[in-house]
Amino acid sequence: MYKGLLHTHITFVILFLVLYTVKTGLLLAEKKEALHLLRQKTKIPEIIISSIFFLTGIGLLFLIAEIKALLIVKIVLVLISIPIGVVAFKKENKILATLMLAMLILSYGLAEMSKKVEKKEIPELVNLPANAPLEVNVHGKAIYKQYCTICHGEYGDAGMSGAKNLKVSRLSQEEIISLLQDGRGTMPSYAKILSDKEIKVVSEYVISLRK
Ligand code: HEC
Repeated sequence: MYKGLLHTHITFVILFLVLYTVKTGLLLAEKKEALHLLRQKTKIPEIIISSIFFLTGIGLLFLIAEIKALLIVKIVLVLISIPIGVVAFKKENKILATLMLAMLILSYGLAEMSKKVEKKEIPELVNLPANAPLEVNVHGKAIYKQYCTICHGEYGDAGMSGAKNLKVSRLSQEEIISLLQDGRGTMPSYAKILSDKEIKVVSEYVISLRK
């Protein structure tokens, strides 16, 4: 559900960006006739594209695990850019059109940036000697709680942001470890945040969640 919605959203955002890049290009190049023709011909498609872009965006907001500051900035930028765009093309104002396009591209970039994970302090791991053994039900659980519950939930089956159900997962420990190192889809990579030892112990904890 989340994945399909996300792919649809991204596709229509890109269509929207392409359309507005072409329009802004024509405006800047003073190709007024071509611009008028394009605006006329794309009137209905544009309504469809922007509606799908908005509706899928709103749908995603309900399925997203964490609303981050960057995400809010992104939404605000998009919302402000729309009236600017309407005025820009009505008045054929180059500055406003460029501004609108810049805001849209910036918010597209912010969406990418907001995927980054921040390092959190885990009390169970602070002050732990470097060679101390890690325990699944203490350290594995604490790491899971800090980084994973937001999408997978306490028991592994919450499914936020498209997260898979860990209770029914059949991945081997090696597969889980490489997934945690590389990330996949909306699931981030933990290679820069967790040590090999920590990744190993949380992978054991994930396996212990299975029925
Ligand atoms: C931002 C949400 C998010 C967070 C945070 C997250 N995951 Fe995931 N996880 C996902 C998504 C989405 C998938 C499905 C990826 C795919 O296959 O496209 C997934 C898949 C998995 C899978 C594979 C399940 C299977 O059978 O394919 C494992 C294991 C897993 N996550 C463990 C973890 C662990 C451990 C953490 C914490 C260190 C974590 N995840 C944090 C979203 C998240």
